[in-house]
Amino acid sequence: DKGGFPHFMLKEIHEQPSVSAVIQHRYAVEALIAESIDVDFRHVDRLRLIACGTSYYACMVAKRWFAEVAGIAADVELGSEYRYAPDITNPPREFAVLVSQSGETADTLASLEKLKSQRIGTLGIVNQQVSTLAREADYFLPLLAGPEIGVASTKAFTAQLMVLAHLAAHMAEQRGYRLAATRFRSALAKVPKLLSAVLHNEAAIIAVAERFSQATSALFVGRGALYPLALEGALKMKEISYIHAEGYAAGELKHGPIALVDENTPVVALAPSGELFAKVASNIREIAARNGRITILGDRRAILAMSDVASHALTMPITDELIQPIVAAIPLQFLAYHVAVSRGYDVDRPRNLAKSVTVE
Ligand code: F6R
Repeated sequence: DKGGFPHFMLKEIHEQPSVSAVIQHRYAVEALIAESIDVDFRHVDRLRLIACGTSYYACMVAKRWFAEVAGIAADVELGSEYRYAPDITNPPREFAVLVSQSGETADTLASLEKLKSQRIGTLGIVNQQVSTLAREADYFLPLLAGPEIGVASTKAFTAQLMVLAHLAAHMAEQRGYRLAATRFRSALAKVPKLLSAVLHNEAAIIAVAERFSQATSALFVGRGALYPLALEGALKMKEISYIHAEGYAAGELKHGPIALVDENTPVVALAPSGELFAKVASNIREIAARNGRITILGDRRAILAMSDVASHALTMPITDELIQPIVAAIPLQFLAYHVAVSRGYDVDRPRNLAKSVTVE
């Protein structure tokens, strides 16, 4: 049942405010973490975050939260790489977090087996509660996003971010970073309302999508915690609209990809106000100087500051920087969706893709 929406993907995009509220209130995620994960994170030296695709990008965002909020280093690994990675002889005290919507992704499950054979503790964060990852990991946290039918992951991604964020707050608390935990929690409490606010900008995003419908190639750039969102925005664009899209760290452009920029290549610059704004802004000006067609994803203040070079904008509210990656996900999902619809594709069932990748 698409609940009155033309596609499951659109329905699932619109469910994100309520899913984030469920995670915080109905399922009281931090109480659940404290109850069900019997690990003292003061004695963990390093986290290993493992996933594939969109779930991997959620881990890339979380790596920054673990460092910034809980003072704990994390390595992020693709399931398909970690499973064949060489073992280290004297490893630090590690704990692994495996993230998956389906809980059946073959490469993530093979990584789980490898971790188990090394006696590293494992936590599975999974949407499908009846799944191999949920069953086989030492600890398990559900995403409670409800069934995700559209092949492109949307609500599971923001649910993963919410659960990982609260896990970081829990670790921060345990490790004595009380203030950081409190600040993070109060920012997270605002997420459901902020997500509702971004949903209201859908009509404006349809206009921006027109810029992309004839494009053959697009670039997404961002820095810091928004760099993984640039990768995610490009992945969504590729998988449902079949436009070649690349996500890049904005500071890397001059090391090669800026050669791709011309007046036919739309560029989405993730640049909300914040510590790195001036840096991204200067990268955006480099793109503008090469006649790139820039769409800025940012809050009003940032959009205004870039209005001389960015003619189009995707608007998000002003928020605490820590939660910007969660809020920025929705405009990127809408953009890919509306570009794909305008090109006439079946967004719920893109070619060559399966919802659950159970083969290597
Ligand atoms: C992209 C997408 C895929 C999945 C990936 C991992 O929209 O859906 O990239 O994120 O196949 O799947 P799970 O999370 O089920 O392990």
